[in-house]
Amino acid sequence: MNIIKVKDYPAMSEKACEIITKHMKSNKRSVLGLATGSTPEGLYEKLVHKNKQGEITFQYTSTFNLDEYIGLDKNNPNSYYYFMNEHLFKHIDIPEKQIHLPNGMAKNKQQECDNYEQLIKQAGNIDLQILGLGLNGHIGFNEPKTPFDQRTHIIELDESTRQANARFFNSIDDVPTEAITMGIATIMGSKKIVLLVSGEKKAETLAKVIQGEVTEDVPASILQKHADITVIADEAALSKTK
Ligand code: F6R
Repeated sequence: MNIIKVKDYPAMSEKACEIITKHMKSNKRSVLGLATGSTPEGLYEKLVHKNKQGEITFQYTSTFNLDEYIGLDKNNPNSYYYFMNEHLFKHIDIPEKQIHLPNGMAKNKQQECDNYEQLIKQAGNIDLQILGLGLNGHIGFNEPKTPFDQRTHIIELDESTRQANARFFNSIDDVPTEAITMGIATIMGSKKIVLLVSGEKKAETLAKVIQGEVTEDVPASILQKHADITVIADEAALSKTK
């Protein structure tokens, strides 16, 4: 694991932007894997800025998001499609047809998972995957004990994840109970991975991810086995890593 320690959240976003910009400049037709949540918001703001300045273009870029809630449509402000549109897509020059998220409203959910996996394969797999880290060690919505060999699938959300995400909803009861997520095997198939982690709250989990045992109890620990993984974490997040 290549670990880059930065001072704080803005520095983490800046470093991530630098890496992605460099990657995009040398890979015109790049396939990016994207995450939602609070962690990449600063990164997306910076990428939007670079796009507006003309330093990078998304015209030939394809994107695949990690996950989407089941039961929320694109226009629901809590859907991940809506989040991505607000924070990135509507501000950049990416053609709509090159944007991919699992469809949480699909009638046949299993078919949707298989199609998503197929689309990623057809695109030649993800070139660079951006990840955030869940408090319980999840990546995407792969909760503890998800088998490492799973590809895109339907998952029941952990109570702790629903509580962590309840801040975006009116009440915990409104947080969906299921999602579609890329599996660990899908994520590990990415050529390059960048894991972003900020804040003291994640310090204990990050220490397990970096120096603990590789175990399905801590899904992100599998990243130790990836050939090209960069962790960009701030001082607070690394405060419990030796
Ligand atoms: C989001 C995702 C999740 C988040 C994780 C951290 O698409 O896949 O794994 O990255 O829950 O969320 P934040 O960044 O809000 O702490």
